[in-house]
Amino acid sequence: MTPQDGRAQPFVVLGVSAGIAAFKAVEVCRRLVDAGIHVAPVLTDRATRFVGKATFDALGSEPAQMSLWDEASPIPHTRLGQRADLIVVVPATADLLARYANGLADDLLTTTLVATAAPVVVCPAMHTEMWEHASVQDNLAVLRSRGVTVVPPAEGRLAGGDVGTGRMAEPSVIVATVLELLGRAGAEGHTGGGDGGDGLATGDLVGVRVVVSAGGTREPIDPVRFITNRSSGKQGHALAEAALRRGADVVLVTTTDRAVSDGVTVDRVDSAAEMEAAMFARSQTADVVIMAAAVADFRPKAAWDSKLHKVDGVPELLLEATPDILSELGRRRRKGQVLAGFAAETEQVSERAVAKLAAKGVDLMVANDVSAAGVGFDHDTNEVTIFGADGSVNGVPLRTKDAVADAILDRVCALLSAP
Ligand code: PMT
Repeated sequence: MTPQDGRAQPFVVLGVSAGIAAFKAVEVCRRLVDAGIHVAPVLTDRATRFVGKATFDALGSEPAQMSLWDEASPIPHTRLGQRADLIVVVPATADLLARYANGLADDLLTTTLVATAAPVVVCPAMHTEMWEHASVQDNLAVLRSRGVTVVPPAEGRLAGGDVGTGRMAEPSVIVATVLELLGRAGAEGHTGGGDGGDGLATGDLVGVRVVVSAGGTREPIDPVRFITNRSSGKQGHALAEAALRRGADVVLVTTTDRAVSDGVTVDRVDSAAEMEAAMFARSQTADVVIMAAAVADFRPKAAWDSKLHKVDGVPELLLEATPDILSELGRRRRKGQVLAGFAAETEQVSERAVAKLAAKGVDLMVANDVSAAGVGFDHDTNEVTIFGADGSVNGVPLRTKDAVADAILDRVCALLSAP
C-alpha cells in the first residue's frame, strides 16, 4: 500500500463489480496510484469471484472495502461518498448499471454511488447481446442524463471467444478519462505508462520516427484568395506534442503557425501539393505516419497570377480533385510502418470511416463526427472512434485533443509492438 498524502491528493473510489473485465481494474488501480491519486477500492461481493481483495489491498492506497458492516466507522458509504473527488466503476456490469440507475443501494458500492455528489465514471463491460439490450441502453441514458460519464466499451474478443461490442475500454483510456475529469490530464505523462509524476513521458516511443500532418490546406485562386476549410491544426499539433512527450523523433507538416515545442521538426506548407511533397519525403524514413490534416478535396485547376478584380466580371472557377495523399502513402509505405488517417464525417460516421480505412490501406482510421458539439474542427476537445484494420474498435469519449492524441498513440504503440 502506498502512503496517504492527505487531501492535496485527489481521492478516487475505484468500484469493481462482477465481470471478467475486473482484471483490468487492477491495472487501472496501479496507474491511478502511480499518477499520484489516492485510490480507495470498493469491491462487490461477487467481484471477488474474478479478482482477489488482497490484490487491491496491495495496490490501492488503502485496504479494499466490500461491506457496509465491517468497518470501525458505522457509515463507510458516506465517508467514501463525501470524501470522493471522483468515483469510477471498472467494470460496470449490466446489473450494477441497473441498480445504480434505479437508485438501489444494497451493497457498499451502490450505496456509495448514491451517497456522493462527486463525478462518476462508469466503464461498462458485457456480452454484445446484453450491451445492445434496451434495458441496458435505457439505464445508460438515465445515467448520462444525470451527468455520469460513460466510457463506452470497444468491439473485440469477448469472454468465451465471441467477437462483438462489449469489451471494456482499455485501462489507458479509463485512466486518462479519470485524470482529465480531475483536471490532472497528463499526470501520467501519457496514457501508455507512468512518468514518475514529473509530467514527462517514460518514453514508449523513444527512437520511433513519427510524422504528423496538421491543419487545413489552402488552395490558391489568385495571389490573395484561396479555398480552405475550418481545420485549426489543434488535433494534429496535439498528436505531435504527445509523440514528443513519449520520446519520439517528431516531424510535423502543418499549414498553421501555432507554437510548437522545441524538439519537433516543423515543415510549414500551404497547399495540398506542398503537403503531398513534404509527406512523401518525410514518410520515407518514418515508422509512424498520421494524417490529421484536412486536405482540400478540390482546388482551382489553375490559379490566376495576378489579383482578380470585380470590374473584370465574375471569374469562372474550374476545380479539379487534389491528390489523395493518404491513399498514396498507403501504397508507398515501408514494411512495418504504421499508417493512420482521420475521417471527418457528419453522417454514417462508422460506415464511412470503415470504408476509408479499407480504401486508403491504413492501419487505423480515427473517426470524428464533426457535427457533434465539441467535436472536430477548431474545438479544444474531440470525441473519436478508432477503427483498426484488425477489426478493433476503440471509442474515446469527449476529451481534450491532448488526451485523444494519447489514446491514438496508445493504439499506435500496440501496433508497433505487435509481433
Ligand atoms: O485541425 P482541428 O481544428 O483540430 O480539427 C481536427 C480535424 C477535424 C481536422 C481532424 O480531427 C480530422 O478529422 N482530420 C481529417 C480531416 C479530413 O480531411 O477528413 P477526410 O475524411 O476528408 O479525409 C480522410 C483522410 O484522408 C484524412 O486523414 C485526410 O488527411 C486524408 N486526405 C484527404 C484528402 C486528400 N486529398 N488527401 C488526404 O490525404
